[in-house]
Amino acid sequence: MKIDDFHKHSHELVDWMFKYLKEIEKYPIKPNIEPGEIYKSLPSNPPKSGESFEKIFDDFNKKIIPGITHWQSPNFHAFFPANNSYPSILAEMLISTIGAQCMMWDTSPAATELEQKVTEWIRDSIGIPSNWSGVINDTASVATICSLLTARENHSKFNINTDGFSDNKYKVYCSKETHSSIEKAVKIIGLGSKNLYKIDTDANLSMDLKKLENQINKDIESDNIPLAIISTYGTTGT
Ligand SMILES: Cc1ncc(COP(=O)(O)O)c(C=O)c1O
Repeated sequence: MKIDDFHKHSHELVDWMFKYLKEIEKYPIKPNIEPGEIYKSLPSNPPKSGESFEKIFDDFNKKIIPGITHWQSPNFHAFFPANNSYPSILAEMLISTIGAQCMMWDTSPAATELEQKVTEWIRDSIGIPSNWSGVINDTASVATICSLLTARENHSKFNINTDGFSDNKYKVYCSKETHSSIEKAVKIIGLGSKNLYKIDTDANLSMDLKKLENQINKDIESDNIPLAIISTYGTTGT
């Protein structure tokens, strides 16, 4: 694609985006298709050479859109409201145009410093002490893995990083209403799912703090190490 074609097609896509979002209520929330239907409609091999934008966009409209669940519809009430807003769509356009790699300061200084500032804003807005700092992770699961690794390595003085586990006495606590990504994180970082205690909840689905305290005391008495309590803000089920 030449840069002038990019210019033309990007305007066509913006018009499509505008129409899609304006008329989103007209789409069925869930596609009326059988499992495997879209897969079967796709060619067995990728094209040998690049195809025109018109052909790709036609495929998108005819083969992909009919298989999409329309999360942005105001009639979508499954899971949680998520993913985008008009400003965030515009931001995505800028982000993918710049295509910056933001893994460290040198690769994109503005990204690092903006992230620092925004995490400070979030910290302050939820009342976390001002000597804390944070980073933005790409998924909730990765954020949990990083947090538990930080707790593990903080306690082991970075020894598990280098030597691995010699004896695992760590215990982690969460509520019974916690998302499955917590158990996944405990397994991935080698703590073991049997060392994760899912504490009962009360009538409000909040963690029963008395039961939490009892479990922690029991673990300390039996020479285990309470490593982390994972709080839940809201619940997955509700
Ligand atoms: C409450 C909650 N926590 C964590 C996750 C995991 O998120 P991710 O798939 O982004 O890691 C989800 C995903 O739906 C969730 O609903």
